[in-house]
Amino acid sequence: MKPIIEAHRGYSGVYPENTLLAFEKAVACGAPSIELDVHVTKDGEIIVMHDANVKRTTSGEGEISALTLAEIKKLDAGQWKGFSGVTVPTLAEALALTDSSNVHYNVEVKRFGDDGTAARKLYKLLIDHAPTDGPHVVSSFDLQALLDVRKAGTKIPLCILGSKANELLPIAKDNKFQWIHSHFSTVDQAFVDAAHAAGIKVMIWTVEVADYQKFADMGVDKICTNWCKEMLALQ
Ligand code: G3P
Ligand code: MG
Repeated sequence: MKPIIEAHRGYSGVYPENTLLAFEKAVACGAPSIELDVHVTKDGEIIVMHDANVKRTTSGEGEISALTLAEIKKLDAGQWKGFSGVTVPTLAEALALTDSSNVHYNVEVKRFGDDGTAARKLYKLLIDHAPTDGPHVVSSFDLQALLDVRKAGTKIPLCILGSKANELLPIAKDNKFQWIHSHFSTVDQAFVDAAHAAGIKVMIWTVEVADYQKFADMGVDKICTNWCKEMLALQ
């Protein structure tokens, strides 16, 4: 089995990360899966961005948690990478791409509030825009965020994220998570075999094209890369 190629923040090697443009380009080059990052705005909307502050990737500045969706929608999210007319998408807008293309998403929760409202909203969106051939997945470095999603419902596979693969295995086993999403540098053949023996799948991030074959040979289940087009060409 060849690993699933997942477009990290969309086709972010070329296009501005975590935007509809980057997601549409990932779909256009045949990526079956897209990773994106989500935060919650001041007024409770789930938006797609990596950093907690809008400064690095938009024309504005400020913490997402201190800005409303309307304020964030006014920002330019493409100029920093040389593209015009690009805005910050909501998660709902990104998921609409599944309705037309059937692309799968790995939604990485960066930060949720507290009371489970955002987790319930996220869960409903993922069910409402589910691909026809299997569910979207939710990942996080934050164990509690994954448990909050599970409280909302059990149909979305959960993925524990981290840098040290061996530390993730007991967490995944204890919590019956379906995936480990590990930094590639701590993943080797013994780890992949141990995870598979426990019935847990392995995703690695963020992998350069030159390292594709090594990890494909190890039997990892999914590879997350900024260069989806170039990596898909190797399959
Ligand atoms: O989900 C894999 C990867 O995106 C985790 O790290 O910082 O790129 O969100 P980061
Ligand atoms: Mg991420």
